[in-house]
Amino acid sequence: MICQLVCLLFISTASPVLSAVPQTVYGDLLANVLNPNTYLKTAMPICNHGEKLHVGQDMILYQLYDLEEPTQMLTVDVWVESTWRDCRLTWDPAAYHNVTSFAVKATEIWHPDLVFFESLHGNFAEALGVLGQSTARVRYDGMVELGSQMLINTFCRVDLRLYPFDKQRCNITFASWSKDNRTFVLRKKVDSGTGADHAFKAASNGAWLVEGFPAFNKIVQRKVGLNESAEPAWFTEVTFQLRLRRKPLYHQAYMVFPCALLTWLALLVYLLPAESGEKIGYVTTLLLSLVVFLLMLADNIPRSGDCVPILGQYFVMCVLLVALANVSTVLSYSLSLRSDEFSPPKLLLACLSLAGLCGLQFRCDGGWRLFTFSRRQLMPSRNGGAKQLSNSDKWRLLGIVCDRFCLLVYGVLCTALTIWIAGFSNETED
Ligand SMILES: *[C@@H]1O[C@H](CO)[C@@H](O)[C@H](O)[C@H]1NC(C)=O
Ligand SMILES: *[C@@H]1O[C@H](CO)[C@@H](O)[C@H](O)[C@H]1NC(C)=O
Ligand SMILES: *[C@@H]1O[C@H](CO)[C@@H](O)[C@H](O)[C@H]1NC(C)=O
Ligand SMILES: *[C@@H]1O[C@H](CO)[C@@H](O)[C@H](O)[C@H]1NC(C)=O
Repeated sequence: MICQLVCLLFISTASPVLSAVPQTVYGDLLANVLNPNTYLKTAMPICNHGEKLHVGQDMILYQLYDLEEPTQMLTVDVWVESTWRDCRLTWDPAAYHNVTSFAVKATEIWHPDLVFFESLHGNFAEALGVLGQSTARVRYDGMVELGSQMLINTFCRVDLRLYPFDKQRCNITFASWSKDNRTFVLRKKVDSGTGADHAFKAASNGAWLVEGFPAFNKIVQRKVGLNESAEPAWFTEVTFQLRLRRKPLYHQAYMVFPCALLTWLALLVYLLPAESGEKIGYVTTLLLSLVVFLLMLADNIPRSGDCVPILGQYFVMCVLLVALANVSTVLSYSLSLRSDEFSPPKLLLACLSLAGLCGLQFRCDGGWRLFTFSRRQLMPSRNGGAKQLSNSDKWRLLGIVCDRFCLLVYGVLCTALTIWIAGFSNETED
């Protein structure tokens, strides 16, 4: 009897000790709110018939990684967040130790099946489940915030017509894969896409400047699945548009400037006297170095067959100009060094006197010597001045006139080309 009493006493005192498992303040809250008997996480949180679920989508650009032109792949580091109200996840904080919110794995609660269409992730599930793996914050009035930081690879059609002075716009479109606008409305969060400018500067990388990241609401009609005869439905979408401007300094310093320098250097060939015998060697060397330079550059330029970008057009024109200088040098060279036996044809002599008459270069007798030679020598006057000139002198003068004329034309073309390319640089700076 005593033994039984003692045993009873022992059991009655021991059992409270055994059952004293520490209780967290969240324990009964989570057990009540996420009770598997009442909370079905596959059911969409629409508590009244005919209502729609409103989901707000937000995205903040954290860092721009890369935009690869050949593959048209954009890589950005972003923070995404979706918010909605789940009418089942509500409680009275006073009844639960004043707990107003808790965090829970997204897989434990219902969450929307959001996808972004331009995804280039390796597999479909990865793009689909981006949000599903993260942690959601639940507030006592039922508001759920599901956010995550992620590195996303998206497709971005790059327009290279103005390369390297181009701007690009890349869309990242979020939508529900399966729910149309009868039950589900996806909207941008009211203040999304209005990030401050300093944030964009920080998010830019060495090659690109981020100009903005606005968001747009859209509603589009598409079919669910691939059944052609199925009735199309309306889907709400949120598009985030990444606005980028290329920083052209790299291209200006290492591509445009040396190219312009070589082109301008070719101008000097017209000032070399034919007797020096260096003219052709000089201009051919320039042409060769330009071509070798272009071969080296070809690796750094995005390969695109859609169009010839500005930079490509500029290079082609530079090569053409220097080739032109080459051709005209050969011509004037062959004029200058004709032998005495041939007299210049009438037509060329007419050119000579025409150039003299126009006073194109010969007017300033006492001026700069480079542009001067005696006008009297050139003008075949009635009192036989021209007859004093030997044939080879005439050829030589013809060569000089040809050179001066080419100098003028080449200078104009070169200036025009330089102004053209410099115009683009200015455009992008403001
Ligand atoms: C909850 O907050 C109310 C008001 O702030 C306070 O009176 C009450 O004691 C708190 N309850 C608990 C369990 O902390
Ligand atoms: C990107 O989104 C904007 C805004 O909705 C739209 O006007 C534009 O056509 C889209 N661009 C592409 C390439 O889809
Ligand atoms: C869905 O969107 C379409 C197009 O805007 C609209 O005509 C239709 O009424 C919407 N459906 C519902 C249920 O709101
Ligand atoms: C496509 O949709 C139509 C209409 O909803 C349906 O009758 C047909 O069976 C579907 N076809 C397939 C292959 O599912």
